[in-house]
Amino acid sequence: MCGIVGGVAERNISHVLIEGLKRLEYRGYDSAGVAVIDHGDILRERRVGKVANLAEAVEQAEISGSLGIAHTRWATHGKPTEANAHPHVSGKVAVVHNGIIENYQDIKQSLIALGYHFSSQTDSEVVAHLIDHQLKTTADLLTAVQQIVPQLKGAYALGIIHTDFPDQLVTVREGSPLVIGVGIGENFISSDQLALLPVTNRFMYLEEGDIALLTRDHITVFVDGQTVQRPIKELDATVSNASKGEYKHYMLKEIYEQPEAIQQTISQALNGNVLREDFLASAVVDFARIQQVQIIACGTSYHAGMIAKYWFEQLIDLPCQVEIASEYRYRSPVIVADTLYVCISQSGETADTLAALRDTQKRAAAKHCNISTLAVCNVATSSMIRETDHHLLTLAGPEIGVASTKAFTTQLAALMLLVLKIGQVKHNISAQVLTEIIVALWHLPKVLTDTLQNDRNILALSTLFVEKNHCLFLGRGTEFPIALEGALKLKEISYIHAEGYAAGELKHGPLALVDNDMPVVILAPQDHMLDKLKSNMEEVQARGGELFVFADEHSGIQKADRQHVVYVPTIDERLAPIVYSIPVQLLSYHVAVLRGTDVDQPRNLAKSVTVE
Ligand code: F6R
Repeated sequence: MCGIVGGVAERNISHVLIEGLKRLEYRGYDSAGVAVIDHGDILRERRVGKVANLAEAVEQAEISGSLGIAHTRWATHGKPTEANAHPHVSGKVAVVHNGIIENYQDIKQSLIALGYHFSSQTDSEVVAHLIDHQLKTTADLLTAVQQIVPQLKGAYALGIIHTDFPDQLVTVREGSPLVIGVGIGENFISSDQLALLPVTNRFMYLEEGDIALLTRDHITVFVDGQTVQRPIKELDATVSNASKGEYKHYMLKEIYEQPEAIQQTISQALNGNVLREDFLASAVVDFARIQQVQIIACGTSYHAGMIAKYWFEQLIDLPCQVEIASEYRYRSPVIVADTLYVCISQSGETADTLAALRDTQKRAAAKHCNISTLAVCNVATSSMIRETDHHLLTLAGPEIGVASTKAFTTQLAALMLLVLKIGQVKHNISAQVLTEIIVALWHLPKVLTDTLQNDRNILALSTLFVEKNHCLFLGRGTEFPIALEGALKLKEISYIHAEGYAAGELKHGPLALVDNDMPVVILAPQDHMLDKLKSNMEEVQARGGELFVFADEHSGIQKADRQHVVYVPTIDERLAPIVYSIPVQLLSYHVAVLRGTDVDQPRNLAKSVTVE
């Protein structure tokens, strides 16, 4: 998704801007650009493709300046071309924009009537022209921005510079993330703090509706024209630990980080074989009251929610619904009192999930309905955490690969902890089951480490997928969402068409697809569904399908002709989906590498989907 970096300093900051853009590459983009102010001129370079192309252009043109803005664009309005890349310039003003200006067509028509010429197909260009026009009757940049912002409908974060104000950077946050990096004698902006870690670890998090004026020495934040104070927070050193290290790709590193990430996530909640007293302590009153759970999420996070539904119902007898946010938000769902709304999001900035949350809160307030909201999220400073009543952090550390891996498994661990906590508060879980699961959770990092030992076997299997065009993933119970997740991982990074199914659904349609050329991946832990799953495997074999089975070492499933088996260590069946995530992640990774795709930044995708 689009990324913003900007800064005002005494030194030349073009290298800071380019380095910042490189750090945003993981979010997904298709073009990039930079503009600095130098001796009263705007110097701008834009390039389609990688930031490296832009870096080369900036070097060749010897672009330098102490005030500047930069952007990576993920096309929404208009193709990825140089003309559509940001910054957009109008007269003496240059603008970068993340998000969508929904009413840009109307604004564009009125600007054309005023004589403005548009050089791009973007919605963003209207902002530059609006500010230029406003400055014909307004004396300073900040006031001009404050005056035009009410005209913009939609979600946006903006970075704005002007040649007549060579020491001012103006920024706006309205529905799209934006953070200020506080330096010494220099200040910066970005849509993601990771971009600014080389220059500072002190951050000011803007709130929706904030407009800020940055100079080298001062940051002033305004809401409705009045100054407000926003605290400065120092970032935990571990958050900055985001390099590939010895690994070829971030995704592989992140797959291997899972035992440690799970250990971190469970340690915040467990003390020996009991839940810590202080774990989610502030939510206990709400947990005692709730009668049902509604989970809202997108993509991989939605798959985590699907698994949690099984757990809420099976383990603590609490009704639970789960829905993708992009549907939920437009469906006029009935708000029911005493419901716990759980938003699951790695980034905490996903536009659809945030909109569903906000809409739910508004409807509940209008009906005087007593609900509670909780975020399961990997970013402590995210909008979702700020806007929910309670939160549960997944301590996965930064996830850079677009395909979610450790963020997913830590979400599962966190959700299991949430189920246990609510079960305990409501006296819906026996002491024995509680202890069994806690013991199994502590054991999990070791089981994950052992499962990772299968990497070479899975690499060998992946060679058999390279020439395939389609693939099926099958599982039952909590392995059904893992089948969906395996199919999502494979398609998003290897571009092989893949479908996940509940194995019981096979004969209701997908079996028609099975022939000699169809690989079928089976998830077969030692659970109460194993015998039924074995029957489904026979249905596939009888139609000539080739089976790739990730099976419990005691499942009795043997290697055979056209039946490849990778054995997975035994785990308490209630935690099996966490363990069986690893083989499907590794399979997708190796297939993608062998097919030569861009594993960490697959085509057309973005890490944090901050537009609808
Ligand atoms: C796939 C993937 C996406 C995200 C989805 C939601 O590997 O990562 O499907 O899960 O875009 O993102 P978050 O969790 O940030 O809300």
